[in-house]
Amino acid sequence: MTVRSGREFLAIPGPTTVPDEVLSAMHRPAVDLYSGEIIQVTMSCISDLKKIIRTGSEPFLYAANGHGAWEAALVNCLSRGDRVLALQSGMFGGAWAEMAEVLGLEVELLAAAPRRAIDPDALGDRLRADRAGRIKAVLAVQIDTAAGIVNDIPAIRQAVTEAGHPALVMVDTIASLACMPFEMDAWDIDVTVAGSQKGLMTPPGLAFVAAGERARIAHRHADLVTRYWDWSFRAGDEHYMKYCGTAPEHLMFGLRRALDMLLEEGLENVFRRHALLAEAARAAVGRWSEGGAFGFNALEPSERSNSVTTLRFGEHDPQRLLDFCRERCGVVFGIGIGPELSGRAIRIAHMGHVNAPTLLGVLGTFETALTALGIPHGRSGVAEAAASLGAALAAESAAPARKVA
Ligand SMILES: Cc1ncc(COP(=O)(O)O)c(C=O)c1O
Repeated sequence: MTVRSGREFLAIPGPTTVPDEVLSAMHRPAVDLYSGEIIQVTMSCISDLKKIIRTGSEPFLYAANGHGAWEAALVNCLSRGDRVLALQSGMFGGAWAEMAEVLGLEVELLAAAPRRAIDPDALGDRLRADRAGRIKAVLAVQIDTAAGIVNDIPAIRQAVTEAGHPALVMVDTIASLACMPFEMDAWDIDVTVAGSQKGLMTPPGLAFVAAGERARIAHRHADLVTRYWDWSFRAGDEHYMKYCGTAPEHLMFGLRRALDMLLEEGLENVFRRHALLAEAARAAVGRWSEGGAFGFNALEPSERSNSVTTLRFGEHDPQRLLDFCRERCGVVFGIGIGPELSGRAIRIAHMGHVNAPTLLGVLGTFETALTALGIPHGRSGVAEAAASLGAALAAESAAPARKVA
């Protein structure tokens, strides 16, 4: 017997659920790529992405995934043999570093303590020791989607500044943009990379890279740059060149609608929604963890991210639970990824187009599976989640929060 008939629900940390409005906006014929509506859509998306990334710099648009955004950031600012310091608090910092190595950069890793966020003091110490200024860029990930850990980006920037080090600070916001605050200009970030398929509620296939003044200066001398990624080649008014070729029109139509939805809700509300739902998910996981079969991967509560919660398993095989949820109940949770967590974790996503019924439904399904499979767990995790959400909503004013965008 299954109870999965109906729409399968994705609770993986990207791609996330694409709203029906976004899907509908994409359901249309292609248009002329040299004139008319697509030009207006491109320009308005660039303008609205600036509001989301919180920057005065025009982001570059790529028909690419997050790996494309990583590569664009590196090749536009750096030269063969330059050293980068990659901050690793989960799989994604390491994967970005690997890409840098393949590109011909010298890579140094600064790892966080196990299951913890990056320590800004350790970063400051390392940069102070780099008296010759060999490190040209620091690569940081705001939310590591594998570990479910959030890094303190303003503190990381501050550590670089206080060390008096000129390295560029590049930040991966792929799993955090439009889920939690990020302020490119106010935090003095040099390069921001992002993708369409998580908080931005658009199908995978669009990557965004915003570059500040220092990064644009570094770009003038970067020898790694190749034609497709090249910021200079893409600069200027010609629409065709903004994509270095044909625009990914349907993704842009979808993005246009998704940005409208985010800005209509207001970024502050979007962040608050994510925070409340994440807190509810953590309330459930905290209760279930009392059974001892699994617990939070992130050891420090304040470092648990608002877009994904990673559960680390002991002797129980998480695959049984994943299979049960997908095959019997129609909910797909994220698998554990990376050398540390592959086969040992489950990731519950709460990012993008999520709300109370979807989150509570997902948690209820998880608890159903725990019961059905006889996995030891603290009872009434879903009730804990509902209590957390109810208390938080009661404490909030009934008026919507001020819009920041
Ligand atoms: C934080 C982070 N960075 C980078 C990536 C890589 O993005 P993509 O899979 O779109 O190439 C991901 C994907 O999940 C991610 O979560």
